[in-house]
Amino acid sequence: MSRDIIYTMKLLERKGIFTKFFPTPNFLAERATGVDISDSSVRFVELADTKYGEIPFKFGEHLLQEGIIVNGDIQNVDALAEELKKIKEKNNLNFIRASLPEEKVYLFRTHIPEDIEKKQIRSILEFKLEEYVPISPKEAVFDYEIINNQKENLQGHTDVSVAVYTKNTVEKYFAAFDKAGLTPLSFEVETQAITRSVVRYNDDGIYMIIDFGKTRAGLAIIDKCVLSFTSTFKIDGRILARVIKESHDISEDNINQIKNEYGLIKNKNNKELFSAFMNIAEQLKDNIDKHYKYWKTRVDETGKRVSPIEKIILCGGNSNLAGLPEYLSGSLKVPVERANVWVNAFSLDDFVPNMDRFQSLSYATAIGLVLRDVN
Ligand SMILES: Nc1ncnc2c1ncn2[C@@H]1O[C@H](COP(=O)(O)OP(=O)(O)OP(=O)(O)O)[C@@H](O)[C@H]1O
Ligand SMILES: [Mg+2]
Repeated sequence: MSRDIIYTMKLLERKGIFTKFFPTPNFLAERATGVDISDSSVRFVELADTKYGEIPFKFGEHLLQEGIIVNGDIQNVDALAEELKKIKEKNNLNFIRASLPEEKVYLFRTHIPEDIEKKQIRSILEFKLEEYVPISPKEAVFDYEIINNQKENLQGHTDVSVAVYTKNTVEKYFAAFDKAGLTPLSFEVETQAITRSVVRYNDDGIYMIIDFGKTRAGLAIIDKCVLSFTSTFKIDGRILARVIKESHDISEDNINQIKNEYGLIKNKNNKELFSAFMNIAEQLKDNIDKHYKYWKTRVDETGKRVSPIEKIILCGGNSNLAGLPEYLSGSLKVPVERANVWVNAFSLDDFVPNMDRFQSLSYATAIGLVLRDVN
């Protein structure tokens, strides 16, 4: 089941833009580009179908000026459109699959009768919106995913995970793409896209995914490849850059190298850095711990404990911090690993991509967005 936070047909038809912007299947001939917009940057990826699998052949990053998007909220649609237009023209982009900010999503899990017809699911969920989210159904745009766990479902019911945005949020993203001349084929929650790049298809485990970006960390709990919980917290990784700059006279480029080489690995020369790194890592750990414990105490509708989180998967540029997985797994007593963002695309044993492993962790969202077109 796809997870599209696309405009519903109704909304698009009413606005007369459905036929204009979601054209006939001609677009299928052209591969879409995954576009991940965060407060500070726009990242895009296109994959090519080769004998090795889906390999990256076009990708890039474009920094955004502060203030255009704040906490996932577009403050200046025209300014964003300008930037997107530059990216479009430089890289010859057209059809895109875009992510929507995790900060802005309302996610809930509910159940619907098992024997319901597919076309009725939306209207049933529409009735439930008011019960779960503080947005009036008129102002809401939502999508859902069926959770395939027959064993655990209430008898006669199917579990669904529903993601809701305000129309206003989605409309602003749509307008920015539209003004830039880009055609969005779908929108989806950032972490749902990440799941597609870092969790193997049909894996039925329960994992926590941490997307440790520039100024915030996104936390998601994935149950059988379905996004089941999400939360974001501020962790300003830029503090690290500042500390490094203060103690070392080095260029911006070398900062990442220092973070990724020394990080949480203590030696006698990096005392000051180490304590700054540790401070950030502790904030991350405390937030993870809170949600990890909360999940452990949850019970389902039948009063049964939900299954525990098996593993924590790290992505986002700051997850490159040296020693971070080891520190987190040591203090949380859970396996922690950095993501392989190509797990559903190709095998690293067969092919070495032109995007290095450090970089790839920043591209987890964009890669997941385009993997929708595969399988
Ligand atoms: N090799 C690397 N390439 C790029 N960024 C790196 C690398 N190693 C570490 N980083 C760090 O990753 C951070 C950026 O993370 P990321 O690219 O995931 O953020 P973002 O997606 O732009 O922002 P957001 O926080 O909104 O998700 C920077 O602070 C940077 O220092
Ligand atoms: Mg990001």
